[in-house]
This record gives sequence, C-alpha cells and structure tokens, in this order.
Amino acid sequence: MVSEKINEVINEQINKEFYSGYLYLSMSANLNELGLFGIASWLKIQAKEEVEHGLKLLDYLLERNSYVTLKQIRTPEFEFKGVKSVFETLYEHEKCITNSVMNIAKLAEEECDRKTLNFIEWFIGEQVEEERQVKNIIKRLELFGEEKATLYLIDKELGQRE
Ligand code: FEO
Repeated sequence: MVSEKINEVINEQINKEFYSGYLYLSMSANLNELGLFGIASWLKIQAKEEVEHGLKLLDYLLERNSYVTLKQIRTPEFEFKGVKSVFETLYEHEKCITNSVMNIAKLAEEECDRKTLNFIEWFIGEQVEEERQVKNIIKRLELFGEEKATLYLIDKELGQRE
C-alpha cells in the first residue's frame, strides 16, 4: 500500500487528469464549431491521452492495493478568445499539472517510496514533452500571427496528428 498522503495526492491527480481531458475536449468542440477541424482533432487526441493518464494512475493505486476515490470533475473554465489564447491557456494549465506531478515525486522522495517515485518519473517526462509541444505552437503563432492564412496552415498541420 502507498501511504495515506500519497494515496490522497494520486487520487487528486486522477481527477486533474480527467479534468484536463474535459478541458481539451471542450476546446476541441468549440474549435470544431468554428471550422478549425485540424486543431479540434489535435485537441481531441490530447483529451484521450489525458484520460489515459488518469487510468494509468488509477491502475497504479490498484496495483499497490490502495484506495481509488473518484471525485466530481468540475466544468472546464474556457472561453474562446482566439487560437493563440487557447494554447496559452493550455500552457498555463500544463505548468500547473507539472507542479502537481512534481509534488507527488517530492512526497514519494520524502517517504522513501521508491516504487511511486519510479512510477511518477514517466509523468514528469510526459509533462516536459506536453509543455514543449504547446509552447512550440504558441511560438509559431507569435511569429506568424493569427491571420487566416496562418491559421489555415497550422490547422492543416495539427490535423495530421495521429
Ligand atoms: Fe496528463 Fe496534460 O497532463
């Protein structure tokens, strides 16, 4: 079993990952309505990844004979203010998720829980990658602007994600 404190933070993390899925999905639906189908598809794929992250954490608790407590998932706070703004919101969100995952690693370290520390390393690597991906999209939108031609090309490119 994991400690009570680690059990609590992993359960919170499950909720945060499912909330992330909701956030990406709400953005995806919104951009789909606007006709930005490629970006919408990219966001929907990311939403599925977030749900996978939640399930990975849930399975870990089960593997450690610990308790799974699924809490209410809040409504995503999102209002469309442009494509760059979508990715800026996501960048800030992912930074919070990274802090949250780092906090689990810190606790595991303090408790000498090597199994949890080893498990959570994967999430740290995943967060570094997610922050990089989102930041790169922001950089390009900053460089080329949000003109229709740019959005068309970015939409086409992001739509290629599988
Ligand atoms: Fe699974 Fe984007 O955090």
